[in-house]
Amino acid sequence: MKNVENLTPEEAEEELKYIAGEMAKADIAYYQNDAPYLTDAEYDRLKIRNAQIEARFPALIRPDSPSKKVGAPVRSDFGKIRHRFPMLSLGDIFSITELDDFIMSVKRFLNTSEDIAFMAEPKIDGLSFAARYENGRFVQGATRGDGTTGEDITENLKTIRSLPKQLTGKVPEILEIRGEVYMSKADFFALNQKYESEGKKTFANPRNAAAGSLRQLDAGITAERNLSIFAYTWGEVSERMWDTQADFFNHLQAWGFPVNPNNKLCLTTKEIEDSFTRLGEIRASLPYDIDGMVYKVNSIALQERLGFLTRTPRWAIAHKFPAEQAVTKINNIRIQVGRTGALTPVADLEPINVGGVIVSHATLHNEDEIKRKDIRVGDSVIIQRAGDVIPQVVEVIKEKRPAGSKEFEFPHTCPQCGAHAIREEDEAIRRCTGGLTCPAQAIERIIHFVSREAFDIEGLGRKIVEEFYHEGIITSPVDIFSLEQRNGGGDLFAHQNSAPLHLEMRNGWGKKSVENLFKAINAKRQISLPRFIYALGIRQVGTATARLIAKNYGSFKHFMEDMIAKETLKLVEIDGIGGAMAKDIVEFFAEEHNLKTIHKLLAEITVEDFIDNTDYSSPIAGKTVVFTGTLEKMTRSEAKAKALSLGAKVSGSVSQNTDYVIMGADAGSKAAKAKELNIKIITEDEFLELIK
Ligand code: IVH
Repeated sequence: MKNVENLTPEEAEEELKYIAGEMAKADIAYYQNDAPYLTDAEYDRLKIRNAQIEARFPALIRPDSPSKKVGAPVRSDFGKIRHRFPMLSLGDIFSITELDDFIMSVKRFLNTSEDIAFMAEPKIDGLSFAARYENGRFVQGATRGDGTTGEDITENLKTIRSLPKQLTGKVPEILEIRGEVYMSKADFFALNQKYESEGKKTFANPRNAAAGSLRQLDAGITAERNLSIFAYTWGEVSERMWDTQADFFNHLQAWGFPVNPNNKLCLTTKEIEDSFTRLGEIRASLPYDIDGMVYKVNSIALQERLGFLTRTPRWAIAHKFPAEQAVTKINNIRIQVGRTGALTPVADLEPINVGGVIVSHATLHNEDEIKRKDIRVGDSVIIQRAGDVIPQVVEVIKEKRPAGSKEFEFPHTCPQCGAHAIREEDEAIRRCTGGLTCPAQAIERIIHFVSREAFDIEGLGRKIVEEFYHEGIITSPVDIFSLEQRNGGGDLFAHQNSAPLHLEMRNGWGKKSVENLFKAINAKRQISLPRFIYALGIRQVGTATARLIAKNYGSFKHFMEDMIAKETLKLVEIDGIGGAMAKDIVEFFAEEHNLKTIHKLLAEITVEDFIDNTDYSSPIAGKTVVFTGTLEKMTRSEAKAKALSLGAKVSGSVSQNTDYVIMGADAGSKAAKAKELNIKIITEDEFLELIK
């Protein structure tokens, strides 16, 4: 890359355009789709490069320059909340020299040579929220959005345990607390593991997982994810009862907010620098991700004197950790086969310490990624722990490539069973077509079947399932339920062709552990409908979808009959189930071996019908309703939940099938479309009257 000093104006213009485009794409991916397009380091590099070029060619600053933006516009399907005070962002620094410069500039601005106290706080790598309290009661929550307008996530925030809903002690009448929502590293790993076993796309890092979990239109899904918060600043307050950031933290604690235990008041530059060093040392051992440190002038009076630059305060700065990278060698590229047959390439690395963690594998994502980066066995590569946890290959050091190395050829057959592995159009993933004849898939399916959110059978862990599979003891979920009989002692004639298993004789087992296993299995012979549907391991059907299906079909019999008849109308009408998912579900039931397994299972177990509390006698039961505009008496989620509990279907868009459009303030195109289609439009009050 050319040094900024040597760029011609034409080149500079070209590059600014390129950077604006890349960063806009990255912003959309990050803020709206919760899936990153660039790594943090790549993003930061572009941002710095952009600033450098703009500093040299101020006349070329674009109207859409990334230096003028905070975040991305909000996604439209959430209600919008306008922040009374904008949620700003922080300037970034990357070195101790820049830190010293920052402290100097603060002193210069205040015209003092004395030390200034700063609060040094870990920079939590999550997403910021604003929570509004009226007379101590939580009333509204928002994301940052573009800094001016955020998304209404009131219902989602309510599901976060560590966010106090009622504050204790003396509280200003109006109090808006801001902070960060995050997912712990452990919960992130568990969630990804689950997603992987469900054949779903995994999250790249805990921050994306937190964002994806928080910004769910169905707050029930947010509730299932273990999110937490740290509070660190405020927005609108009717009465400021604190004079320093340190004192603010005392108040936060007294009110019941979680405050980061590593926040530290620093009185000298040396203390600030030391706190940064210390944070770097404990970073890997913290249960959540941080991406640097934030320094804030402790005195609010001084903060007020310092004021703001265009989008960032002059009294605070973010000191980012350098991306944790290291160079190592790829010893082998392995292909893992998941439950739904997805082939995932994994690089076995020469083990190396990256920022305090020994890394010996890196994910290569998929075959396109390998091709794009031209990753080969024997290559020296730069690896990075993105978002602190999952190691990835950033780039290959081509100069170090051994002579005679060959391009990696992604297999077109399954490395586990030899069946064809095909890649459907528009799919990034190649899949084994072996189904249950593929041992890898069969094992993963059994593991999924007994997993915590499915049958939840204690005592059947991965290791035992693998052993039992390879010894032919459990080759399908059905075999779990005949285990006791086959063990010997049960019905003598049931399995007269095979010798009793006598599991109690196995190494490390005993009578007691075998008994416990049978007890655990028998306890699950009666199972709820959502769990059973989830346990089947249908591609794309996770716990939330399983619950939706259960709710809409009521019994497994109804669901299965429709699916076998390929009758998907009811299915795709469910809010949250799309055509692609319906296709996967129907395909599952079209497989002879799946039906066989299900029938055998149903002979062993009882699937409970789904008890539904819906009031089907309400005037809107069976009707399709659409909410549009800003509602005043209830949040969008509340309105939706209410309508569902009264037996209505809630749809996101107006069509011929819509019965009512409930129109709030500032309703836009949906109301217009409803008029055009001659659909009944009612106000929020009329809706409340209707369902009273
Ligand atoms: S203070 C005007 N404190 O970093 C100052 N932000 O780049 C507002 N963040 O949007 C932010 N930890 O999402 C502040 N202890 C902390 C933080 C923190 C993480 C995030 C926050 C903010 C971003 C700024």
